[in-house]
Amino acid sequence: MIDQKSEPQSAAAATVRTKPRGLISDFCHSSVGRKMIVAVTGVILILFVIGHLLGNLQIFLGPEWINAYSQHLRDLGPLLWLIRAFLLTTVILHIYFTILLAIENRRARPERYIDRQYVKASWASRHMVVSGLVVLAFIIFHLLHFTGRKFNPQFPLLKLDPLNRYDVYSMMVYGFQNVYVSSFYIVGLFLLTLHLTHGSSSFFQSLGLNNQRLTPRLAIGGRILAWLLFIGYTSIPIAVLLGFIKPAQQL
Ligand code: HEM
Repeated sequence: MIDQKSEPQSAAAATVRTKPRGLISDFCHSSVGRKMIVAVTGVILILFVIGHLLGNLQIFLGPEWINAYSQHLRDLGPLLWLIRAFLLTTVILHIYFTILLAIENRRARPERYIDRQYVKASWASRHMVVSGLVVLAFIIFHLLHFTGRKFNPQFPLLKLDPLNRYDVYSMMVYGFQNVYVSSFYIVGLFLLTLHLTHGSSSFFQSLGLNNQRLTPRLAIGGRILAWLLFIGYTSIPIAVLLGFIKPAQQL
């Protein structure tokens, strides 16, 4: 039976939908396009997180290594700012389209299925938006902490290293000697890991890869990668707290 009341609404919706839009705009307004944007920006961010970890792990090789690495990044000059702007745009697109998709999914889901889906969905998938926002808060804190050099009274006292480079090594060690700061990092990294474990499963579906054998394997690979990243990142504050890594400068 035709619902008389909804007819004028559908006609209005059809009028809105038939309005011509550009190719990119159409892509951004389609559910498939939005999922692809979330997936591709997610991959770019994961690649950054892997690269950033490899850079940071050089702290275990000593101050010469990590300070040289940081200096190389600084020497990129304007290119470094271009990379930063690209990363920032990627983060904004990732968050914007994830929230849009979450709102769309909630609207599309019939009321009576909400409870059942709630039981089926994993903790990580149900909390994708919340864990994402806490990760964002963690990144903002992190940027203020290490890039802005805030929150630590010792940071302004740090001198350049013997080769006249900024002593990132000592900054990281003094930063993580504070047990509250280290704990906050570990909690932030844990949430990032949960976010990545679910992201890795939905990523392949978003790209339309629904191979019965391959997709679950790739998803498991994604989860293993997320936990390896967790172990790698948290090894740094833990090693500092346990005294395995000591500052190069005594303040
Ligand atoms: C134990 C974990 C981490 C450590 C020790 C660490 C270390 C650092 C340091 C030392 C810097 C400043 C580099 C400099 O100014 O020379 C930095 C910048 C940054 N970190 Fe991390 N990081 C960690 C985790 C993360 C995570 C998990 C993310 C992202 C999810 C992240 C994203 C960034 C970003 C976006 C920058 C700014 C890069 C720039 O200024 O060009 N970091 N990190």
